[in-house]
Amino acid sequence: MLFRTLILRASALPFVKAFMTRSPLVRPVVRRFIAGETVEQAIQVGDGLAASCFNVSLDLLGENVASVTEAERERDAYVDLVRRIGQSPHVEKINVSIKLTALGLDQGDEIAEKHYREIVAEAAKFGMFVRADMEASAYTERTVAMVARVFADLKNTGTVLQSMLHRTLDDARTMIALGARVRIVKGAYLEPATVAYQDKATVDAKYVEVAKMLLSEGNYPAIATHDERIIGELKAFVREKGIDPAKFEWQMLYGIRRDLQDRLREEGYNVRVYVPFGSAWYPYFSRRLAERPANLAFIAKSLVRR
Ligand code: FDA
Repeated sequence: MLFRTLILRASALPFVKAFMTRSPLVRPVVRRFIAGETVEQAIQVGDGLAASCFNVSLDLLGENVASVTEAERERDAYVDLVRRIGQSPHVEKINVSIKLTALGLDQGDEIAEKHYREIVAEAAKFGMFVRADMEASAYTERTVAMVARVFADLKNTGTVLQSMLHRTLDDARTMIALGARVRIVKGAYLEPATVAYQDKATVDAKYVEVAKMLLSEGNYPAIATHDERIIGELKAFVREKGIDPAKFEWQMLYGIRRDLQDRLREEGYNVRVYVPFGSAWYPYFSRRLAERPANLAFIAKSLVRR
């Protein structure tokens, strides 16, 4: 957890950001986690994964826009993305994930909700699901409330809950009562002890607790983790309770534990790969670096080899 905190803090420093985004030496490491910068590259990766029997969620990277005009641009880009997926022969296997701060949450709930509704309504024309990603805890309450409001009118949406937050069990109950789909994750943001568990063992234990609840009572939950121990425990739970594997899916990030993704798919489970793309990759990339010291070692090695 200490390493994660240090990397997340360091990555926010302007000179670190300038180096990471400009250095060609960092690019090969970025490409491990990001499908490309264009919609064409993302759809190509998505189609390839879908042809190999994976489900896919495309994420057009971007968060915390600075103006309503930028938020409108993001909305337009997402509507375009949805239409482009709509042309894919694999449309039934591909959906999208969005961040509400990219749609204007910092500029006001009304603005973000209008854009979010427009995207979900467009996706509904193709029978496509739209997931609102969960961002830092300052946004949790508004995200949960907004998803619930939109879900009341448009059923092809749902959200993400983070096991590190104290409030998550309650949020999971709310989503179960609504019938809205939840992706459970551990949580990728730096959070204070007032709202989040600070030790990994508790975050992991809470993850298992919420995941079991969603598997038992939720609507097609997404169990999003690369944690093999947790996956093993949940597979045993599913078998023991006689839960139909068609009633949930595993989710993992593009470029992470491809071996585990293949194995789960070969075992007959539904597996969705979360595929980020776009030019605003830095915050997403920093979170992936912070999760695993070895990722930073890749960058260090490329610098040394220079
Ligand atoms: P953990 O961090 O304990 O890692 C378990 C193992 O997975 C590691 O030992 C390593 O083998 C592998 N691993 C994990 N991260 C790696 C990395 N970066 N590089 C290489 N190997 C790695 N978070 C959030 O706050 N809001 C959100 O909306 C989402 N959305 C989301 C979607 C999907 C599909 C996934 C899989 C994850 C997210 N997350 C997220 C991120 C999540 O909160 C969490 O930070 C990461 O999944 C890492 O946690 P793990 O559960 O994998 O466990």
